[in-house]
Amino acid sequence: MIHVKEARFVKSASKLDESTPEGISEVAFIGRSNVGKSSLINALSNRKDLAKSSSTPGKTRLINFFHVTLTQDETAFTLQWVDLPGFGYARVSHSMKDEWQKNLTEYLKKRVSIRLFLHLVDARHPFLENDKAVHDYLHDVVRPDQTILRIFTKADKLTQSEISVIKKHYPDALLVSSSRKKGIEQLLAQIFNVVFGAQL
Ligand code: GTP
Ligand code: MG
Repeated sequence: MIHVKEARFVKSASKLDESTPEGISEVAFIGRSNVGKSSLINALSNRKDLAKSSSTPGKTRLINFFHVTLTQDETAFTLQWVDLPGFGYARVSHSMKDEWQKNLTEYLKKRVSIRLFLHLVDARHPFLENDKAVHDYLHDVVRPDQTILRIFTKADKLTQSEISVIKKHYPDALLVSSSRKKGIEQLLAQIFNVVFGAQL
């Protein structure tokens, strides 16, 4: 059983240069604006307001680093959650969008500490073009020491038959609900497994 012993905000950065020093393994939360990245960070951390979430898309505008201590059988492991701005947020100027995009892709491509990309997809919209684009992009930049996991969020909004459709198309699909705390423990165990290579 994995426990979150501590989770704290470290800093916000607008680009790679301003990030925390390389070294601690990172889990990067990627996905459309409003998909539930910040909420999932809170659910995984067992905290209500660690990462700021909002029903208004475009809440997270910077790269936010959270230092996390997990324990398994009294042994402590540290990692960082990295909350990222959502893509597809339309209500900013084009130049600002380009700047975000550039800063975001630079972080994803060049940040050595990233061990795991969590690609969050809204379970109500499992087949969107821009999620396909993100999927392809991540598979393009992923290094041999990194893993990509696709996570379907807001599973509480789905009927059983909608869940079946997702499972049919994506046999390894991980469905979570941050609000109902469904699938969170399983995801935490999987993250631990990927990042620390433990056989649970
Ligand atoms: P940006 O920072 O704008 O990119 O958004 P985000 O991906 O961080 O989303 P955020 O966590 O702020 O959540 C967006 C909205 O979705 C909020 O109103 C949340 O309450 C809601 N939400 C997040 N997770 C869930 C969930 O599991 N179930 C339901 N029903 N709503 C959720
Ligand atoms: Mg956010």
